[in-house]
Amino acid sequence: MNNFEFYNPVRVLFGEGQIAKIVDLLPDNGKILLVYGGGSIKMNGVYDQVLEVLSTKSFVEFGGIKPNPEYEFLLPAIDLVKSENIEFILAVGGGSVVDACKFISAAANYDGDDPWSILSNADPVKSTIPLGVILTLPATGTEMNGNSVITRASTKEKFAFSSPEVFPQFSVLDPTIPYSLPRSQVVNGVIDAYIHVIEQYLNYHESADVQDHYAESLLRILKTEGGRAITFEKPDYNNRANIMWAATNALNHFLSAGVTVDWTTHMLGHELTALHGLDHAVTLAIVLPGVMKVMKEVRKEKLLQYANRIWDLSGSDHSGIIDQAILNTEQFFIKLGVGVR
Ligand code: NZQ
Ligand code: ZN
Repeated sequence: MNNFEFYNPVRVLFGEGQIAKIVDLLPDNGKILLVYGGGSIKMNGVYDQVLEVLSTKSFVEFGGIKPNPEYEFLLPAIDLVKSENIEFILAVGGGSVVDACKFISAAANYDGDDPWSILSNADPVKSTIPLGVILTLPATGTEMNGNSVITRASTKEKFAFSSPEVFPQFSVLDPTIPYSLPRSQVVNGVIDAYIHVIEQYLNYHESADVQDHYAESLLRILKTEGGRAITFEKPDYNNRANIMWAATNALNHFLSAGVTVDWTTHMLGHELTALHGLDHAVTLAIVLPGVMKVMKEVRKEKLLQYANRIWDLSGSDHSGIIDQAILNTEQFFIKLGVGVR
């Protein structure tokens, strides 16, 4: 196992009805910026719950963030933070809204010429506006990490930045909020989380037993509960709670501590989204099986462990076992309803 430093300060409020609790975590006097997406929160009752919490607070709204949030759309929000002297940002949405808020938070206090440099040039983030999250879509893990992914529509670029300065102060994870998701977004979330685990796990044997078994638990849970999620007529609380917590754990950086990681599938996937507008998880389902095939020899030892511990495959035909594990992975995505070509 390699040396590592691990830090994660995010306060997680997990379970039904937790939104009400954030009243004590928001500033009493400072102005809050409430940020959300295209309107799903107005249809499923979350917006009303948030307004109830904010009834004693001073706040302004910025809505309309689209999936794969665009830099150009966020510039007026950065101006709003400055002109309204915003002291806290409350993100209510999926990965796109949360990532948008992380960028707004960093860009508002940026002292260079163009805040795009935070993304394109990895300019260091020195000062930010504090951020809180109410997560509506379990998938990205952004609710418990310091990452943000932003698209620049005019140049068709999609870049990420990472900084401990943009860890949310708190994240509400209420498994009932994603009940209103369409099936396609439920499975997108399962696939995104599954591949987050894969890219931190399926690399080399490094005697990191805690990380390996933790990753394998998450993969098995996502495989089983992800498959079950689409069989229920009405959402099942524990099924959704396990998917939600697994997705958070898939990218809160516990798994990458002390091991080699390889984000090839994500990097290629971001290009496909930037060029063709595909959903993030859909791009990953297309790219991952190909990456596994290309890396078959280099990652042989770990692929065999994956085949054995996740797909119960064993025997002396190592090449055949690996091929079967890759095929099973593809079939898992296809059964969830996502194409792999
Ligand atoms: O905009 P609204 O109306 O809210 O609708 C959204 C959107 O259309 C809808 N939705 C969200 N919660 C809902 C809901 N609809 C009904 N009920 C609910 N409870 O779902 C649609 C997709 O939302 P989006 O936020 O785009 O999805 P996701 O959470 O998958 O986020 C994708 C973005 O996150 C980035 C991706 O690249 C992409 O830009 N990622 C961020 C990461 C990170 N920060 O660590 C890591 C990931 O690998 C990923 O790259
Ligand atoms: Zn992802």
